[in-house]
Amino acid sequence: MRRLILKAGLAAALLAAGGLAARAEGPIVIKFSHVTTADTPKGKGADRFAELAAKYTDGRVKVEVYPNSTLYKDKEEVEALQLGAVQMLAPSLAKFGPLGVKEFEVFDLPYILPDKAALRRVTDGEVGRKLLGKLDAHGIHGLAYWDNGFKIMSDNRPLRDVADFRGQKFRIQSSKVLEAQFKALGALPQVLAFSDVYQALQTGVVDGSENTPSNMYTQKHYEVQKYATLSDHGYIGYAVIVNKAFWDGLPADVRGGLERAVSEATLYADGAAQKDNDDALAAMKASGRTEFIALTPEQKAAWQKALEPVTAEMSSRIGKDTIESFRKAAAGATN
Ligand code: LMR
Repeated sequence: MRRLILKAGLAAALLAAGGLAARAEGPIVIKFSHVTTADTPKGKGADRFAELAAKYTDGRVKVEVYPNSTLYKDKEEVEALQLGAVQMLAPSLAKFGPLGVKEFEVFDLPYILPDKAALRRVTDGEVGRKLLGKLDAHGIHGLAYWDNGFKIMSDNRPLRDVADFRGQKFRIQSSKVLEAQFKALGALPQVLAFSDVYQALQTGVVDGSENTPSNMYTQKHYEVQKYATLSDHGYIGYAVIVNKAFWDGLPADVRGGLERAVSEATLYADGAAQKDNDDALAAMKASGRTEFIALTPEQKAAWQKALEPVTAEMSSRIGKDTIESFRKAAAGATN
């Protein structure tokens, strides 16, 4: 069924690509599919991009935003983009491994980013540009990075010491680094689409999950998780991507207008991210459904020690050079 849908999408996309110039009577349509709700940093960025795209192309482009996995789930949306059934996405940086761009998993290494300033030094600089450039060989063009935030760890058991993870089943995104992370903690990771997490937590398919407060709140995971540890052990952000053939086929002035729209939407999404996460955390605390746990410095040091081997273990997958240049950029040593 899904293949059929994708094939139908492909046919439509080919027609659309061939007909771009011919459809002078109507706007160029960009379908922007994503998996979070509209009231998240990504949802807000996508909606703002849609407004600005119309503005800066004088209505020649119409962006249709499909939030909350209404059109495609995680894996399907990347396939749909490559086939041209949708033109634009903003997947989490942890979801590019299955596409063959393993280097993005550097963002998933535990504790590699101490704060947002370090993140910006990576994404705004040469390292960030090079990583986006790796997508072109896969029929995808990277336009920007959008922010979400640092992760918390939720479970039905309080997670304070490394031993608390033993035998617990955790949902992960499709990243080998995240798989290694949970294995290093003695837990059992399982890849699930974002849209399936609530039900998996509710029915006990998995015991816990890691995500940003904004995602945990807007997907209602806090309703089915007794505890969450404020661990900031990793980062979730996005690459805003387009189908390359579609993008290259746009009239230059239209592309210019869209580039301007992307850069303004990026500032908007990044500006919303911290507040969204702070507000989500406050709302979940106020709900009383989940108990939030702060780690002592000793507990945090024990998590860091347990997770340290993950980087060495993953270095042949991600590339030693990528990890090294990422670290240097994050530290401000190069840019
Ligand atoms: C996930 O856990 O799958 C999230 O990263 C989804 C998203 O796009 O924020």
